[in-house]
Amino acid sequence: MESAARIIGTGSAFPERRMTNDDIAQELIRFGLKTNNQWIIERTGIIERRISNIQNEAEINSSLGARAAKIALERAGRKPEDIDQIIYATCSPDTLMPSTACWLQQKIGARSAWAMDINAACSGFIYGVVTAEQFILSGHSKTVLVVGGEVLSQWVNWQDRNICILFGDGAGAAVVEQVPARSSQRILSSHLSSDGNLSKLLYIPAGGSSLEVTPERYAQNLHKMHMSGRELFKVAVRTLTECALRTLEKLHMPAIKLDWFVPHQANLRIIEAVANRIGIPMEKVIINLDRFGNTSAATIPTALDEAIRDGRIREGQTVLTDAFGSGLTAGALLFRW
Ligand code: COA
Repeated sequence: MESAARIIGTGSAFPERRMTNDDIAQELIRFGLKTNNQWIIERTGIIERRISNIQNEAEINSSLGARAAKIALERAGRKPEDIDQIIYATCSPDTLMPSTACWLQQKIGARSAWAMDINAACSGFIYGVVTAEQFILSGHSKTVLVVGGEVLSQWVNWQDRNICILFGDGAGAAVVEQVPARSSQRILSSHLSSDGNLSKLLYIPAGGSSLEVTPERYAQNLHKMHMSGRELFKVAVRTLTECALRTLEKLHMPAIKLDWFVPHQANLRIIEAVANRIGIPMEKVIINLDRFGNTSAATIPTALDEAIRDGRIREGQTVLTDAFGSGLTAGALLFRW
């Protein structure tokens, strides 16, 4: 049978603790640094974010992912036993070994599935859904659970005011399933890209096998995220625009025909610049970064889930998602809900 893939259910989960911009300003005072609510809102659009308490098992990455996955399965009308593949997109895994996907598998009891992680940083959810689609099209899998989950607060340098204002924790999930090729509700088109020459725009120098964390490197915060914010901003606008346009071009679809745009939630100014370049009015753009900040691989599935739940995204509507992240990775995915 000629087949296609379709997202049939979504879910999301966040830790309890809200950290406001004023809370961050208070934290920074301890290190002799300044920021303020107005600056953060004007430069990023973020008002608050959620931060996991990792002493609480319920708020580690795989537990947030499991909560999101259970909701997605319920909405899709599927049971954990129905899943034959789990893809967990994350760059802040519970452990380097085993994968966060395996921790999640145990938590939701998906006994028939095989499980793996994907690390494409903030583009991870789109990479995950496109990977799921390919396994479905090849006939290897029928029902795939894709999770984008992060607890990147553990890798935030709380003494770097460029970074600590941006990130938050959370997880989103989607069930992707095989449908007949002629189905109108399906994944329509996608485009993925990466450019390893830009790796150092956002990276964690130490803690992998290339650079051990020694007490000296720990003191220099080399085990935390390092970012060239201004440069990344420009690359983000260019790459997001390019990915979105190439995805639309594959279907000869003008942007005006889109019902919704769900971009990676890194910075409101990046989102506005990209929407403007593609030609999508801001009324059609789904935003959740004001309340959750940049949750990396979780931004798109959580924003998508919120808009589906509150009835903005309705059956039969066309949705374009678009992300960029460390790597530098990027990807866009167009589907009919
Ligand atoms: N509070 C107050 N002032 C701050 C500040 C903060 N948190 N962070 C930086 N500043 C200051 C800078 O020191 C600089 O001061 P100066 O002009 O006296 O040197 C000024 O504000 C402007 O800094 P700049 O870095 O040009 O700000 P910006 O407008 O580029 O905003 C970011 C900084 C990080 C918000 C922005 O570059 C950004 O969002 N980049 C993309 C990052 C991203 O998306 N990362 C995730 C990728 S998945």
